[in-house]
Amino acid sequence: MEKDHEQLLQASTELTNHSLGYVKSMAVRCAARLGIGDAIHRSGGRASLADLHAALSLHPTKLAFLRRVIRVFVTTGLFAQDDDEDDNGGCYYRLTPMSSLLVTKTGDDDSSSSSSSLLPFVLLMVSPMCETAAMGMIEWLKSGGEEKTPFEMVYGAAFWSSCGRSPELGASFNDAMAADSAFIVDAGHVFDNINSLVDVAGGVGGAARAVAAAFPHIKCTVLDLPQVVDSIAAADHGDDVVQFVAGDMMDFIPKADALLLKFVLHDWSDKDCIRILKRCKEAIPSRDAGGKIIIIDIVMGSSSQAMCHGTQQLFDLIIAVLTPGKERDEKEWWKIFKEAGFTKYKISPVLGTRSIIEVFP
Ligand SMILES: C[S@@+](CC[C@H](N)C(=O)[O-])C[C@H]1O[C@@H](n2cnc3c(N)ncnc32)[C@H](O)[C@@H]1O
Repeated sequence: MEKDHEQLLQASTELTNHSLGYVKSMAVRCAARLGIGDAIHRSGGRASLADLHAALSLHPTKLAFLRRVIRVFVTTGLFAQDDDEDDNGGCYYRLTPMSSLLVTKTGDDDSSSSSSSLLPFVLLMVSPMCETAAMGMIEWLKSGGEEKTPFEMVYGAAFWSSCGRSPELGASFNDAMAADSAFIVDAGHVFDNINSLVDVAGGVGGAARAVAAAFPHIKCTVLDLPQVVDSIAAADHGDDVVQFVAGDMMDFIPKADALLLKFVLHDWSDKDCIRILKRCKEAIPSRDAGGKIIIIDIVMGSSSQAMCHGTQQLFDLIIAVLTPGKERDEKEWWKIFKEAGFTKYKISPVLGTRSIIEVFP
């Protein structure tokens, strides 16, 4: 009986914690929007509560509340707390590897421990727009019409057309997607023996620029919708680093030794993925001549680590909220590769939640 009672209390604690998950998410939004990471970074990597309160220009009455917000972050590992205190009994806080990813990067800034800022990506994930769309899940589950996403039901338009219609949403989405581009060159071996690369649906060219900087001999081209290509400053068009081509990947993909599809196929149904992959196959040389596509996406179950696996599952849900796509396991990936006419693939689970999948004709 006592054991049952203990189990009940534990279950109640866990359920309450999950129910308040959004508060954690909103606290992350608060840290990201206020720039707590930048404030600690500017103070040399360590700041007291009073320093932060002043640096963030918060109302004088909110000092104690700031401490309560940061306490949540210390528990979740977003920031670290030192043992010593300032003269007023306030704690000192430091960046952790996680919050280093929230520090804004400037072109000449290499003093932070992270190689890239995920701030724009985090801001998109915790945006009221994504949250409101996710709230539409219940109605969507009850309704038919597979083509419509919860996003479409809530906002009356598909995600991509909404990005096209709202320059603000489009820009924040493009920045979010480009934010993690620095990570991909860590897996540099997949770019060996390539002289030309098309980044299919490559957004504003973050990944293509990272590849071009790391492998200057590779001629990099980005294909994306006119609404995205047109949004890039005129100075970027046709520069020596990356070429931009406006078009629809469903219809045509420029030819290259290899194609990159980063965070693209998970946005689409199997039927659309097969169509895109067929266009890809037409654009590359044979396997003997070195043709391949490089996919960067989640392979569900690629990691047995609970945090990684759980994050993949959450990503699968937000993808379903925003797009008609899904995260796929290895069997599901192989099925669409085969149906598009590819004969071989190799998965390298080297990018945290995501994998690099090389697919050969
Ligand atoms: C999730 S984003 C990925 C962007 C980029 N690959 C990255 O990771 O930074 C998907 C991209 O697909 C583009 N897109 C959507 N439909 C497209 C189409 N039919 N043809 C070409 N690009 C398309 C969007 O404009 C967007 O830039």
